[in-house]
Amino acid sequence: MAEAYIIDAVRSPIGRKKGSLAHLHPADLGAHPIRELVARTGIDANAVDDVVWGCCDTIGPQAGDIGRTVWLVAGLPQHVPGTTVDRQCGSSQQALHFAAQGVMSGTQDLVVAGGSQAMNAIPISAAMYAGQPYGFDNPFNTSPGWVERYGDGLLNQIASAQMIADKWEISRTAMEEFAVASHARAQAATEAGAFKREIAPLEGLEQDETIRPGTTLEGLAALNPVGGEGTITAGVASQNCDGSAAMLVASEQAVKHHGLTPRARIHHLSVRADDPVWMLTAPITATQHALKKAGMSVDDIDLFECNEAFASVPLAWMKELGIPHEKVNVRGGAIALGHPLGGTGARLMTTLLHALEDTGGRYGLQTMCEGGGQANVTIIERL
Ligand SMILES: CC(C)(COP(=O)(O)OP(=O)(O)OC[C@H]1O[C@@H](n2cnc3c(N)ncnc32)[C@H](O)[C@@H]1OP(=O)(O)O)[C@@H](O)C(=O)NCCC(=O)NCCS
Repeated sequence: MAEAYIIDAVRSPIGRKKGSLAHLHPADLGAHPIRELVARTGIDANAVDDVVWGCCDTIGPQAGDIGRTVWLVAGLPQHVPGTTVDRQCGSSQQALHFAAQGVMSGTQDLVVAGGSQAMNAIPISAAMYAGQPYGFDNPFNTSPGWVERYGDGLLNQIASAQMIADKWEISRTAMEEFAVASHARAQAATEAGAFKREIAPLEGLEQDETIRPGTTLEGLAALNPVGGEGTITAGVASQNCDGSAAMLVASEQAVKHHGLTPRARIHHLSVRADDPVWMLTAPITATQHALKKAGMSVDDIDLFECNEAFASVPLAWMKELGIPHEKVNVRGGAIALGHPLGGTGARLMTTLLHALEDTGGRYGLQTMCEGGGQANVTIIERL
């Protein structure tokens, strides 16, 4: 099969709740890394075959195929199309998969993959409830087929994160230690300038503004559980935020024709699913499946990115697969860096690529929990 290469990856800084990017139109937030990607690679934008873009809650300014809008807002050629992908939190990891698959199939040569989410403008789950004026309480519980299979309970990621903490016996303190490490690693990476290459400053913001460098175990222990009971607090949850990221994926032929320098090749890609009510467990089975299919073991992977939707998710995944924390989210994760839903998959890959380059690692594996109980896995080989 033909190879697919990642040529470049760039992201916005992450804007916090009511922060520096909150006033941006979602399409302008998304256009930013695309414009930067084109400038950095020097690619002739006319040659791009498609734009594959992750975004969730595609209502209002995120509706109407934002994958098409972001490219146009970036001022790029009208004849290049764009499409929007919804694999929930993994949307832009799936966008990378679709882009790579287009190239591997030989039907496309140059594809932009990425994603964005403006969570200040359009709050998380807004689309879930957008059907209420039309008689649909949420996407699931008015479907007899769904109710027969999964019941009429509200699917809720915080409840799922709690179920995972309970099942895998992950204490509140263990989650808080993980959260402290996330902030500390992200702050250390920021201070060392490790994010400088991957962040394209926006609206005067040069660094992620979600990191709380003063995060302590004592401070986290004082927070109330979300919803009043249990062990999930705001401190061990990913932050709602604004962010976007974009990558250029190319075929061998495009690399030669445009004189590009590949930075990584897609070594493996797959997606699996698990129980939608448990919702956040699929990274475990998906990673087991991916490693088996790739003929690799945990030891073969130099760095991992597993999205910190909630601390219990990567902690259960690490426990189940025997993955050492030293190799996971080495520059912090979504607890510190935020989780701009549709943009997070591309943000994780951008950070993974740069971290592999800076540490001399060869293989990196990315996985994420996704609504519907799904998980993508991508293994890249740094070149
Ligand atoms: C958990 C969640 C509901 C909290 O939202 P929020 O209440 O708006 O969050 P805030 O940032 O205001 O934090 C709440 C409190 O915790 C405190 N806090 C958060 N992180 C902290 C830290 N690291 N150290 C100390 N305090 C912290 C805040 O200061 C705030 O305190 P205050 O109420 O006194 O101001 C929200 O972040 C969320 O929904 N996260 C998950 C998103 C999600 O589900 N994504 C998809 C994944 S499947």
